[in-house]
Amino acid sequence: MKIMVLNGPNLARLDIRDSSIYGELTYAMLVTFISESAQRLGFDADVRQSDDESQIIQWLHEAADSNLPVILNPAAFTHYSYAIRDAAEMLKAPLIEVHLSNPLSREEFRHTSVISGIAQGTIAGFGPNSYLLALEAMKSLVQK
Ligand code: DQA
Repeated sequence: MKIMVLNGPNLARLDIRDSSIYGELTYAMLVTFISESAQRLGFDADVRQSDDESQIIQWLHEAADSNLPVILNPAAFTHYSYAIRDAAEMLKAPLIEVHLSNPLSREEFRHTSVISGIAQGTIAGFGPNSYLLALEAMKSLVQK
């Protein structure tokens, strides 16, 4: 089964972000981890990243039109993009929000997610394993 895994701004530069938060992970390592984990669970993952809000919105439209489940790390857009929320709300298959870090243990502006309210659930704080846990949760959702 196909699944879209969408990543928002600055996630392609993980290796040069704060290593006390994101560790030594590179984006390439994250993509490999997601793709291999997805494959083991029977998913064919289309993993994408953009720094551009409009690009992410277009990908969400594509997922909605193709009835695809989505795992979304909106990165900083999490905290303020009503446009991404509105696009995600049109999805027909489940949406799971993920974060590498735990935004609730970080600065106050990260404590708000405008996406959580329309996601099936949110998984945050487990590094790359947040994506693995989301894939496992998605598997049981789509099997229902
Ligand atoms: C993030 C958390 C966001 O607050 C931040 O802006 C990111 C990454 C995470 O995966 O931990 O860019 O979504």
